[in-house]
Amino acid sequence: MTQRSEIRFILNGRDISLSDVAADRTLLDFLRLDRRLTGTKEGCAEGDCGACTVLVGRLTDNGLAYAPVNACIRFLASVNGCHVVTVEHLAGQDGRLHPVQQAMVDHHGSQCGFCTPGIVMALYALWMEVPEPTEAEVETALQGNLCRCTGYSPIIRAAIAVSRYGSPAADPIHREREAITARLRALSDGRRIVTGPADNQSILPADLDDFAACLAENPNATIVAGATDVGLWVTKFLRPIAPAIFTGHLDEMKRITLADGMLRIGSGASYSDCQDHLARAFPHLEAYWKRIAGWQVRNMGTVGGNIANGSPIGDTPPVLIALGAEITLRHGATRRAIPLEDFFIVYGRQDRTPGEFVEEIAVPLPGQGQRDAAYKISKRRDEDISSVAAGISVTVSNGVISACRIAFGGMAGTPKRALAAEEALIGQPWCEGAFTAAAALLPQNFTPLSDWRASADYRMLTAQNLLLRFFLEHDDAGGEPVRLAVA
Ligand code: FES
Ligand code: FES
Repeated sequence: MTQRSEIRFILNGRDISLSDVAADRTLLDFLRLDRRLTGTKEGCAEGDCGACTVLVGRLTDNGLAYAPVNACIRFLASVNGCHVVTVEHLAGQDGRLHPVQQAMVDHHGSQCGFCTPGIVMALYALWMEVPEPTEAEVETALQGNLCRCTGYSPIIRAAIAVSRYGSPAADPIHREREAITARLRALSDGRRIVTGPADNQSILPADLDDFAACLAENPNATIVAGATDVGLWVTKFLRPIAPAIFTGHLDEMKRITLADGMLRIGSGASYSDCQDHLARAFPHLEAYWKRIAGWQVRNMGTVGGNIANGSPIGDTPPVLIALGAEITLRHGATRRAIPLEDFFIVYGRQDRTPGEFVEEIAVPLPGQGQRDAAYKISKRRDEDISSVAAGISVTVSNGVISACRIAFGGMAGTPKRALAAEEALIGQPWCEGAFTAAAALLPQNFTPLSDWRASADYRMLTAQNLLLRFFLEHDDAGGEPVRLAVA
């Protein structure tokens, strides 16, 4: 495999070529410290506040696509082949403010101004996708942007008004789309990239097979997909991550297909990549998915990464386990498939050998009579980590529960199935008493911990109540499923 030692990308209007890019160099540090593009702010350095929001455009199967991301936890090496757009690119050559900026000024959307560049970039991305957004769409777009002083009403009013100030079709990013596409194509030569000092190396495999080979050669390397977790290892814990193998550019790992009754999700698909596919196949996941972090993190974080890091409070494992998902693990050219729940052995240990990686997640489509739900309980509605997460899937045939899978996050050292409750429900008539009895069995499988998110008692009671909530929401004795007005 031939290789090169520099990354290439476009920053605003300029072609950039950099060699010696350390694995732990963040995009934000590069922008602010090397390029003095200080419009992009550092607030939290952990992907929470959105002050560092920039747009990253990349070539996809559907053409050039831009997404807002957090530059603080995005690694510089990972923007190879991309178009990075910062807030400095928005104002016109004559200094005239961009429509989004002018709307923010006119609607008093800024006070101290620290969050403002990040909010402008998130609203810019929204305006290009949805020129005339609803208030709900604006709120979703701003889930990942925190403002401590303005209050959100003026910002939302500004967002809704932007299209009165200009049309996305006239925006440079639209007008220059073909030229940027051609320039990005010219940057790629299909070679593996190895860059950075010997003790802080970044590796960008040429393709999926090359990634498998790279990881087999470097079994102790850190795999960096969306970096929403690994980014914090660097910015918060100052942990070395080299050698790091970056996978965010590998389109083969992002494929999502629907065939033979299975939705197959490449492990490198971001939460945003999956959103529409999941909503079509599993409508109950649509609202749940929008409660994963904020827009920027959903554009970066991957389903495979959420599984592979083995967190007991990851958002995706409980709901995917309940749906009967399997994962494919790959080492070199060798693959094996296991039920997702078997991947999680104990806290901090997964069924993954050195050099092996999660390649794909396969989720069976719902069968006849299957009732599904996904619940996330957290202190804040948006951009928070769950205290308890639950996936519940119950199949009812002729009024009797014939199949059942229940999984919880936040209730043990790993995401885990409620086997005693499942066993108790199967064969029972669909009735409240069956769920009350099953809820009483949760302590057989779970001994939750107390921490600053929730006490053990709160977690257990919440999990038990979620089973009852599931029954009440899906009790169709009266016709339509009942929807409880509970957050
Ligand atoms: Fe807060 Fe990046 S600095 S999200
Ligand atoms: Fe001060 Fe938003 S204007 S943090």
